[in-house]
Amino acid sequence: MKQKLAIAAALFCAQSLSVQADSNVSEGKELFSQFRCAECHGADAKKPVGKYGSVLAGMNTDDIFLKTKKFIESKSHEQVLQGCGEPPSHVQIKKMSDYLSTLPK
Ligand code: HEC
Repeated sequence: MKQKLAIAAALFCAQSLSVQADSNVSEGKELFSQFRCAECHGADAKKPVGKYGSVLAGMNTDDIFLKTKKFIESKSHEQVLQGCGEPPSHVQIKKMSDYLSTLPK
């Protein structure tokens, strides 16, 4: 009986996790334009604008997360900060990373 419950709980958790990932993707898309990342990295993160930015589409989500966090903390992305007043939070960066990692390269 206990075992059944544990299985049910595991299934439930797996399900709510995947729902969360889906909403991360759609929210991440909005955040990506809200924080004006697209101005340098291109609307679909595939066509960097001018000499700026690199292709982010299809990168590994953890990779994007760590690099974005590092750039923002080291202020290499200072225009991002200027443009929006406040830098994206870790939760927001995670959402953008999830979104970008789902894009085709
Ligand atoms: C002002 C232009 C500009 C904006 C706006 C901008 N970036 Fe960048 N981004 C760059 C440039 C230039 C690079 C190349 C690496 C560097 O900074 O030396 C880069 C690199 C990156 C990388 C590393 C890519 C790699 O191949 O390793 C990530 C991840 C990234 N940006 C995420 C973001 C996110 C997320 C946003 C929005 C919050 C954003 N950037 C907004 C210019 C920009």
